[in-house]
Amino acid sequence: QELQLNLEQIEKNNFEHFMLKEIYEQPSAIRDTYRGRLHAEEGIIRMAGVDDNLERFLNAKRILIVACGTSWHAGLVAEYIFEDLARIPVEVEYASEFRYRNPIINSDDVVIAISQSGETADTMAAIKLAKEKGAFVFGVCNVVGSSISRETNAGAYTHAGPEIGVASTKAFTTQITVLTLMALKLAKAKGSISNTDFHMHLQELETIPQKIEVALQENDHIKEVAFKYKDARNCLYLGRGFNFPVALEGALKLKEISYIHAEGYPAAEMKHGPIALIDEEMPVVVIATRKGHYEKVVSNIQEIKSRQGKIIGIVTEGDTSVRDLADYVIEVPDTIESLTPLLTTIPLQLLSYHIAVLLGKNVDQPRNLAKSVTVE
Ligand code: G6P
Repeated sequence: QELQLNLEQIEKNNFEHFMLKEIYEQPSAIRDTYRGRLHAEEGIIRMAGVDDNLERFLNAKRILIVACGTSWHAGLVAEYIFEDLARIPVEVEYASEFRYRNPIINSDDVVIAISQSGETADTMAAIKLAKEKGAFVFGVCNVVGSSISRETNAGAYTHAGPEIGVASTKAFTTQITVLTLMALKLAKAKGSISNTDFHMHLQELETIPQKIEVALQENDHIKEVAFKYKDARNCLYLGRGFNFPVALEGALKLKEISYIHAEGYPAAEMKHGPIALIDEEMPVVVIATRKGHYEKVVSNIQEIKSRQGKIIGIVTEGDTSVRDLADYVIEVPDTIESLTPLLTTIPLQLLSYHIAVLLGKNVDQPRNLAKSVTVE
């Protein structure tokens, strides 16, 4: 028994929980993801699974992404990135809906299946269906040799290392990293990105791990915010553009481990429903980084404030406009818009982690959830 506990302590590397350890591992996990692939100096991205099938990707009329849970959120971020950079239409599907919908799949479609475990039953079934219809299926998995990585025609591993906490953290950011590398590579091959932009993206991507280190330094401050809102019964997460899926993921993290009801919404959709929920009891986490519809998000924040909602702003370093309106702000370093999800995700992971710990919940193994869902 004692030996078992000690072993676990060693595995946790003196972090109190696997989830916290995995949150802090993200800088090195992302470096592992792009190691050997991203060559910023030379302006090259090497990904064998994409290189070997470049024609299939370039001839694709569209990309279909299938996934579940957090991986589905990574797919949504990828939709924004692929469409913006590579100008390929993307549809993102819950694998469980896709498989039973009699979906239209063409032989010139590329299907990307995203899965940390590589064992999710619904995602696996969606892959089989897509293959039957002749589509080319590319896997983005973390677990090497997993069922999905074997079933797909080609793929790219995230190389995040083992993820033990049920709530996915480093798997998510490394999935986004792989998908960003793919989008950039295809954009370059298609000529949909200028050389200058391509180089800038590569260089910026290389600085992300170090910027995550900076974002992690807000940990103590985030703990204070967590203390303030730990007794909330509901929480709203808002974001726009690239950060809309991050809002969904932030809400999912809170639900999963603290059992507080949370919803993620595109900030502009707030007026079509969720705004009715806002009162002085409602914490609203708003991703309001300086890039991407910043002014519009600020006006969304004003709407929340005028209804007495409590505002927690995720802002770019040095921001003043949101600071003036918000109850709390949490800063992340500046980066180019398409890469902001890799930074804005970090404080949301920490916020849910601290709330769950303060509430005394089982952070690494939340009730009713499983790390790998191998049944329907
Ligand atoms: C479960 C896990 C989630 C995960 C989802 C998809 O619900 O609790 O954290 O996002 O499955 O898993 P996958 O392994 O396919 O990414």
